[in-house]
Amino acid sequence: MQVDLKDKVAVVTGGTRGIGLGIAQALAANGAKVAVVGTNPEKLKQAVESITATGAEAEGYICNVASTEEVEKTVNAVLEKFSKIDILVNNAGITRDVPLGAMKDEEWDDVIAVNLRGPFLFTRACSKPMRRAKKGRIINITSISGLIGNKGQANYSASKAGLIGFTRTASKELAGKNITVNAVAPGFIETDMTNVLPEIYKTELKSRTPLGRIGQVADVAAAVLFFAGDEANFITGQILTVDGGLIR
Ligand code: NAI
Repeated sequence: MQVDLKDKVAVVTGGTRGIGLGIAQALAANGAKVAVVGTNPEKLKQAVESITATGAEAEGYICNVASTEEVEKTVNAVLEKFSKIDILVNNAGITRDVPLGAMKDEEWDDVIAVNLRGPFLFTRACSKPMRRAKKGRIINITSISGLIGNKGQANYSASKAGLIGFTRTASKELAGKNITVNAVAPGFIETDMTNVLPEIYKTELKSRTPLGRIGQVADVAAAVLFFAGDEANFITGQILTVDGGLIR
């Protein structure tokens, strides 16, 4: 997938590994300057270096996406460095899987804070400069768990379903300012988040997936690139499932 993102500035939350890192690298490979947001200084440094080593521009920002203060500070720092924000990818996310009868309050609260409050805070902050510029792209990474539910993920699927509702409302509110808001809903993608799952679960999942394989980071990054590029400028409020046909 190739799009022209020359001179665009993109913010990617949770860009230090997995899907977020793949998205940050793909945006940079297509010409964007990337602000990588993460919580682990060492991983952040490595992520930024993996991008700058290709000759592209990137800067790292330590920020907990659930903190209003840290998000405001980060967005201001990005604006100071790059003067504008064209693309926001709300990718940071966590799981705390446990059957709901045994779920602790903090397991609920932590997942909602990172996966739902985070995208709200970043969208609110980044939409200000986008409104002024009268253009922008916001892409939220939700999950098929938010569309069909998943045992042991009451907190996670609620956060991802919430993010779908948020995407649809934000798309309506921001359309008048030429800002599109879309979401990508991956199925099972091979990353550190999913590597912890038992092999038998992965084999069973593969057999249930019509396209017969587990998703890769590049599959999700391609969908994000599509929403970020000019080709998608008449598309907003959409949820694009990237799951090999699993939930169809
Ligand atoms: P991952 O666990 O490998 O990476 C998550 C990233 O988010 C990391 O960089 C982590 O440092 C960052 N992060 C976590 N909490 C944060 C916080 N409070 N503030 C800032 N950054 C924080 O996960 P993966 O697999 O790359 O997932 C990325 C996104 O894709 C998540 O939103 C996840 O829910 C979603 N997703 C993943 C799927 C998969 O199969 N891997 C399937 C469907 C959705």
